[in-house]
Amino acid sequence: MGQGAAAGTPPFAAETAVELVGVGKSFGPVTAVRELSLAIRRGEVLTLLGPSGCGKTTLLNMIAGFEEPSAGRILIDGRDVTEVPPYLRDTGMVFQSYALFPHMDVFENVAFGLRMRKLPKAKIAAEVMRALEMVKLGGLERRRVRQLSGGQQQRVALARAIVLRPKVLLLDEPLSALDKNLRAQMQVELKELHERTRLTTLFVTHDQGEALSLSDRIVVMSRGEIQQIAAPIELYRHPANSFVASFIGEINRLPPARCRLSGGEIVFSLAGIELTAARRDDLALGDGQQVHLFVRPEHLAVAAEAAGGRNRIACRVVTHVYQGTHTLTRVEAGALGVLQLRVPGGAVIERAPPGSEIGVEINLDEAVALPD
Ligand SMILES: Nc1ncnc2c1ncn2[C@@H]1O[C@H](COP(=O)(O)OP(=O)(O)OP(=O)(O)O)[C@@H](O)[C@H]1O
Ligand SMILES: [Mg+2]
Repeated sequence: MGQGAAAGTPPFAAETAVELVGVGKSFGPVTAVRELSLAIRRGEVLTLLGPSGCGKTTLLNMIAGFEEPSAGRILIDGRDVTEVPPYLRDTGMVFQSYALFPHMDVFENVAFGLRMRKLPKAKIAAEVMRALEMVKLGGLERRRVRQLSGGQQQRVALARAIVLRPKVLLLDEPLSALDKNLRAQMQVELKELHERTRLTTLFVTHDQGEALSLSDRIVVMSRGEIQQIAAPIELYRHPANSFVASFIGEINRLPPARCRLSGGEIVFSLAGIELTAARRDDLALGDGQQVHLFVRPEHLAVAAEAAGGRNRIACRVVTHVYQGTHTLTRVEAGALGVLQLRVPGGAVIERAPPGSEIGVEINLDEAVALPD
């Protein structure tokens, strides 16, 4: 900003489809979105992920033009649209509730935006049929919306958004109303749809699994603020803070630890015991530093013997939750509190029933260590 480019427009990178510059929104005393800056890259699926009330819908509504920012500028394809009304912004939106027209059939719902643009009839028909084919609704164009399943209604809402060939597709929890199986199926279809259209997409969800599977990059939000922006794998393996660590996937939080560097190892002293990890370049840990360790359930394993060996803790089994491919086993680990393990298969349920003593090995080589 403030570089005084021609006509007062900020510098703009061609790979950026949407740019938010210091955008914030308050409703009276409530700050829904704190001033933040964010660029959506052309063709990517960027996901806003965060708990209920963290400002996801508000941010989407500001980009679509349904809410006016209290601060900042919004650019789409380099054009400042902050004062441009929604229908002139070239955005396509699927709302949290699909907001279809119940009295119209599928065709008319999808054609609506094109009719508003006064396109010729034949062109409208061709575009609508193309969009319906894309969401696999070909043949249902004369059905009433009321006569469709939840998944089909969701597809109509998607077709209605993509038919306008928007510069950015804004999807506000489009799958939240669907049951688990249909949701998983639609996740795959959304991914395929994106591969076909390459539409720049801003996807909103509070479901971390959905975010991990659908996104090129994820923006983790909490209380109107960005906590971290990263690709799914990066976010899972290197969360920037304890909020992100706990929000993305299952994770065990260990008691505060003090580090000591010893040869090629880091020794963590916590709750009266010592655990070790191989030294890593990505962990800038100094001697005597206080940290919190976060360990994924897949990095805990049932040991052959109860005691002895590296990072082996004597534990008592509390419960098993069988999940088909694996079992989530909760154990009481003395001073470390309750830990959760992800054990392949289901054999552990019979081998170590609740109440039995087992040894658990903690692999800290991929643990997240955050400064206290
Ligand atoms: N029109 C409004 N007037 C007053 N407060 C509002 C309004 N819209 C949203 N808020 C508040 O702003 C905050 C963010 O709301 P928002 O709807 O953006 O959250 P969200 O992340 O989309 O949540 P959810 O996952 O439940 O949909 C909340 O505290 C909400 O109560
Ligand atoms: Mg919302």
